[in-house]
This record gives sequence, C-alpha cells and structure tokens, in this order.
Amino acid sequence: MKKLILDVDTGIDDSISLAYICGQHDVDLLGVTTVYGNVDSEAAARNTKNLLSLLGRDDVGVYQGAEHALHTEGFTQQRGGAVFHGLNGIGDVELTQSDRAIETVSAVDFLLNMAHIHDEKITIVASGPLTNLAQAIKKDPSTMQRYQRIVLMGGAFTVVGNVSPVAEANIFQDPHAAKVVFESGIPITMIGLDVTSRVILSRDDLKQWESKNDVSKVLLQIMDHYFKAHELIYPQWGGAAMHDPLAAVVALHEDVVRTITVPVTVLTEEKQFGRTVLDLANIEDQQAHSVNVALNVDIELFKKYLLSAI
Ligand code: BDR
Ligand code: CA
Repeated sequence: MKKLILDVDTGIDDSISLAYICGQHDVDLLGVTTVYGNVDSEAAARNTKNLLSLLGRDDVGVYQGAEHALHTEGFTQQRGGAVFHGLNGIGDVELTQSDRAIETVSAVDFLLNMAHIHDEKITIVASGPLTNLAQAIKKDPSTMQRYQRIVLMGGAFTVVGNVSPVAEANIFQDPHAAKVVFESGIPITMIGLDVTSRVILSRDDLKQWESKNDVSKVLLQIMDHYFKAHELIYPQWGGAAMHDPLAAVVALHEDVVRTITVPVTVLTEEKQFGRTVLDLANIEDQQAHSVNVALNVDIELFKKYLLSAI
C-alpha cells in the first residue's frame, strides 16, 4: 500500500485528483490537508470533505490549513479562481453536506504527526499554494525530511505562466512559501505548466461518465464549469487542462513524465514574482536541493490511468 497525503485548494482539478486517488485500491490515503487558493480556506476544507463523502470516503480526515499566504494578512479569491473554479470552487455545484466534521488538528500539525508516526515512507501530493508545507518545514525541518517525496503541481520552468507572464497560479499565490519548499532538500517532483498544459481532457473524453453512476454525474456537472472556462479563455485547446490530476497520477506512476534533475528556486522580486527558475547559485551542488522537473509527458498514458480509475 502506498501511503499518501493530499494537500489541496479544492478546486475543480483538485476534485478530479481526489476522485482519482479515491479510485485506487493500493493507496492508503492518510488524510487530506487543505489550503486557501482557488477559494478561501474554509471553502476548500468544506469542498474537500463533501467530495470525500460523495466518493464514499468519509473515513478520511480533512485538516484545514493556511488561510492566507506568508506575505499577506488575508485572502481574496482571485479573478482566475472564480472564472475557472466558480465562486464556491467546485463549479457552483451544491454538494450534499458530509456529516463528518473538519478535524481539530491543523494541517501543519497533521503533516508533522504523520511523519513522526509512520516508519514507512509517505508521499505528499500538493496541488495548491505551498503555504502549509512551508509552515511545517519552518516549524520542524528535520521531521519534514522524513517524507519520501513531494509531488507538486506548480511552476512554469520552460513555458509562460498562467497568472503572469512568468508565474503559475499556485506558486504566484505564495512564492515565499514555494521557495522554502523548493529549497528544503526534501525530494520533489515538480509538475508544472510545462506538462500540465498539455494534458487536455475534452468533453468527449468524459462522455462515458454521463451514464456511469451518480458520482460521475456530479463530477461531470462540476467539470462543465471548468470546460466552459477553458472554452472562453483557451478555445484553441479543445478541452480543459488537468493540472492537479497529473501530479496525482505521477505520484503513483512516475513513468508518465520525463524529468530533469536540477536545483530550483523561486524569485520573489516584483517583476519576477512567483517565477520558478534554475538556481544558478547552487548549480555546482546538485545535492543541495535538486528537484525533478517534468518536461515531457505521455499524454495517452496519463489519460488511461486517470480515466480507468474514476
Ligand atoms: C493550478 O492553479 C489552480 O487554479 C488549479 O487548481 C491548479 O492547482 C493551475 O495553475
Ligand atoms: Ca489546485
């Protein structure tokens, strides 16, 4: 059984990522930590627990995390968050409320507790701003080193950003946190726009969900909003980018992407805010904090893994 923790800002593509992981029989999902991002922290936690319930996984705890970035005092939903994910984060679809309460333990303490308790290695799949992870690393860096790997959706290494010419949304929301994570020395696989903008699902790809079951029908309603946003903003793509699900698939099937291993850092000055770059200052010292940066993806293999599990 592969042990996983998801860190999400649910989010439509985060929702598909959750559905994919819940469809695995050989994954032990230890818990889900949530963070502001596509929506505020409370909405992200609520969406996550209601989705887990829809997916038949009320047994999985949801641990609410950061309410805003390290450099801000509060959070306001970005225009892109509302356009792509809806005001409520899940395409403005109203889910049945789960009876299970959000856990009282914070996301940061949960991450540290899990690293302490488990001797077996745990992978974190992070698909929101990296604030929770950075706070945990700042609080107890050596404990966080016990994680086997962080597979994160974030950044743009060789391509333009999606919220600024240089930055991808998750990194842009909290570049200071991202810098802490990238420079932590914990093994990281970076699943950035370099590859996620190429894994496009079309409405046709999901046709089979129409007649499958109630869960897939709800997921389809949620996805409808995401498709419409992509049809408006990226009509040339012919579908919607599966950013977060690619990170989840790679956590279980690393052969889906090809990576290079280089030190990566994050720029925080005004014009470069949130840009993920080669860390030239540490180029000689590959051991310092080398990151596997995904630069190529087997699109068909990704779709096969994703769609056969949901
Ligand atoms: C990332 O930003 C969010 O809008 C998505 O959920 C994804 O994690 C894509 O840039
Ligand atoms: Ca996300």
